[in-house]
Amino acid sequence: MEETKIILVTGANRGIGLEICRQLASAGHRVILTARDEEKGRSAAASISGQVQFFRVDMADPASFKDVQNYIAGQFGYLDVLINNAGIMSSSLGFDQAVPDEIHRVMETNLFGVIGLTQALLALLQKSSAGRIINISSGMGALNDMAGGYAGYRLSKTALNSFTAVLAADLSATKIRVNSMCPGWVKTDMGGSGAHRPVEKGAETAVWLATAGQIPNGKFLRDKTVIDW
Ligand SMILES: NC(=O)c1ccc[n+]([C@@H]2O[C@H](COP(=O)([O-])OP(=O)(O)OC[C@H]3O[C@@H](n4cnc5c(N)ncnc54)[C@H](OP(=O)(O)O)[C@@H]3O)[C@@H](O)[C@H]2O)c1
Repeated sequence: MEETKIILVTGANRGIGLEICRQLASAGHRVILTARDEEKGRSAAASISGQVQFFRVDMADPASFKDVQNYIAGQFGYLDVLINNAGIMSSSLGFDQAVPDEIHRVMETNLFGVIGLTQALLALLQKSSAGRIINISSGMGALNDMAGGYAGYRLSKTALNSFTAVLAADLSATKIRVNSMCPGWVKTDMGGSGAHRPVEKGAETAVWLATAGQIPNGKFLRDKTVIDW
C-alpha cells in the first residue's frame, strides 16, 4: 500500500469533489472533506467509508480559512495535498452583457477564495515531505481554445491557471508541486445531463496528481496529460 497522505478537498459535498474524496479514502488516505454547508458536508463524509472527516470551509468566507488552518495544525501539524475543487458557474452571458456584480461573485469563489485558502495552508504544505496543490480548472479558461459567453466563469478559470503557473514558480525552490487540471465535461449538477463523462473519470486526474510518485509542476493537465493553457 502507498504511503498514507493527508488530503483536503474543497466543495466536496457533491459532484467531482465528493468522488475525489471517495477514491482517495478507498485508497487508504486520510481525507478532510470540506463544504460550505455543515449538514451537507457531514452527510457526504458519512456516505464514504475510510478515514474521512468533515470541516466547514466556505470559499467566500476567509474566516473559515483560518479555522481550517488551526484545525489541521492542531490535528496533524502538516498537510500533504490541497485540492481546490469548489467552483461555481456563471451565467452564459459574454463580456458584452455580463454584469460586474456577477463577475465579482464568480471570481470571489473560483479565484480569490482559492488564493486565500492556499495562502492560509501554505505553511502546513511546506511541512509535508511532498506537498501538492491541485487547482480544478477548466478547458473553458484555456486561452488557446477560447470562445465567447460564460464570461465570469472563463475569466475565473483563466486567472486560476495564471495563479497556478505563478505560484509554481514562486515555490520552485520548495518540494511543493502546483498544477491545474481540467476534469473534462463531467455529468454533475454543473456539467448537466448532456455531459458524457462519468464522475469517476472526472476525479481520476486529481487523484493521480495527489498520489502518484512523479508528477509535473506548474502545468495544466487533462487525463493525466499536459495540455496547452
Ligand atoms: N462538471 C464539469 O463538466 C466541469 C468541467 C470543467 C471543470 N469543472 C470544475 O470542477 C469543479 C467541480 O465541479 P462539479 O462539476 O463537481 O460542480 P458541482 O456539482 O456544481 O459541485 C460544486 C461544488 O462546489 C461547492 N461550492 C460552491 N461554492 C462554494 C463555496 N463558496 N464554498 C465551498 N464550496 C462551494 C458546491 O457546494 P454547495 O452544494 O454548497 O453548492 C459543490 O459541492 C469546479 O471547480 C468546476 O468548475 C467541472
